[in-house]
Amino acid sequence: MQQTRENWGSKVGFILAAAGSAIGLGNIWRFPYVLGENGGAAFLFIYLICIAVIGLPVLIGEILIGRTGKRNPVGSFKALTKSGFWPYVGGMGIIAGFMILSFYAIVAGWSFGYVVEAIKGSFLDYNSPAQAAEHFNLLISDVTWIIVMFIIFMLLTMLVVYFGVQKGIERGSKIMMPALLILLVIVMIKGISMEGSGAGLEFILKPDWSKISATTVLLALGQAFFTLSLGMGAMLTYGSYMSEKDNIPSSAAQILVLDTLIAVIAGIAIFTAVFSTGLDPAEGPGLIFHTLPAVFTKMIGGHLFSIFFFILLSIAALTSTISLMEVITAYFVDELNWKRHSAVIVFGIVTILFGIPSALSFNVLNDFTIFGLTIFGLMEYLTANVMLPLGGMLIAIFIAYVWGFDKAVIELKKGAERFFERSGWSITFWKIILKYFAPVLIFIVLLQSIGLLDKITNLFQ
Ligand code: PHE
Repeated sequence: MQQTRENWGSKVGFILAAAGSAIGLGNIWRFPYVLGENGGAAFLFIYLICIAVIGLPVLIGEILIGRTGKRNPVGSFKALTKSGFWPYVGGMGIIAGFMILSFYAIVAGWSFGYVVEAIKGSFLDYNSPAQAAEHFNLLISDVTWIIVMFIIFMLLTMLVVYFGVQKGIERGSKIMMPALLILLVIVMIKGISMEGSGAGLEFILKPDWSKISATTVLLALGQAFFTLSLGMGAMLTYGSYMSEKDNIPSSAAQILVLDTLIAVIAGIAIFTAVFSTGLDPAEGPGLIFHTLPAVFTKMIGGHLFSIFFFILLSIAALTSTISLMEVITAYFVDELNWKRHSAVIVFGIVTILFGIPSALSFNVLNDFTIFGLTIFGLMEYLTANVMLPLGGMLIAIFIAYVWGFDKAVIELKKGAERFFERSGWSITFWKIILKYFAPVLIFIVLLQSIGLLDKITNLFQ
């Protein structure tokens, strides 16, 4: 079975696809809205630390497990240890992937729906930013619109995954990523040139440390995992298609730099616009849909530009939903011998059904909350802030204490011999992070997130 496993067509295939998974709504939709709700620059600062110090070592580890185990998350753990516990960690990742897909594809549907709005020229009629917000709220309160767009997006995702790893994923991400980056830079320049943009720059670049709390750290860590597609086996699965000639640390670093660059550019673009149009930075999940159309209205060639922008955003989202679906598919194909086609159809339909209550969170089920969160909010919170960091912590523990660095480092060096000759220290750094730093830090943050830490500290007072 292993012989027939597909490999990336070219050396850049992995980087492109993994970057495609990482770059998406997490950077352009979620990053600005979570940052806007949590104090701007101070959040950015903690987020960058989480990315560099925890994100990179765990990313390298996750890709490595996949490349060595050569399977889906469950199968790869099975290949590397006899212990029966670890495949469940892979299983949790697959469930997290399924949950993420069910809400992510809804927002992707909005982005797709905005392509249609842009073509119709809806953004041209706005006289004030408030109108852009009003229009968005009108659309998401329409049950038919939100569900139809969600289903269309799921069908697009299924179509690509149905036709297989190479043909589908690789080709798509090769062309579109640079184009998206260019458009974002243009929006950013437009944003900076707008009157009153200074307050926006200050918001995202000048930290107000008083805004930092334990929650900020949790949310920054969660966003770091979310944006890198980390902790649920997407990078592991993509790593499983990677060859031993490829250099994991340098690929991981490239993905991380690209992903962070896009998030920061998107952040500057959005907040300069938010402040110069007088919108509220803490607007929540609707933030970019309120803000960007209001910017496009004011741009020369804004009509055409808005069409391109939402097309590229939809494609960026698609390369991420593909990776989510690929994880689920790879599991059913590898472990349970399902046909790829059946897995895609069955899980596509199941995800749509499971996602509908989340879609209704913006209209019919608006007032239905659990722990103060809508169903959509709960899915997002549970996956990004609990399941992904937990998965990341377990990946670090697995490599350090179960698989063992001796074996892991031999694998890691494959394809990266020259790299490690020059920078041997980086292995030591990697080990220290995975062995002590990542598990302890994530554990503390997780305790905090379920409110346990407060109770424990109270015990000692
Ligand atoms: N990283 C993706 C984004 O930023 C989202 C994602 C999370 C994809 C987890 C796969 C797995 O848009």
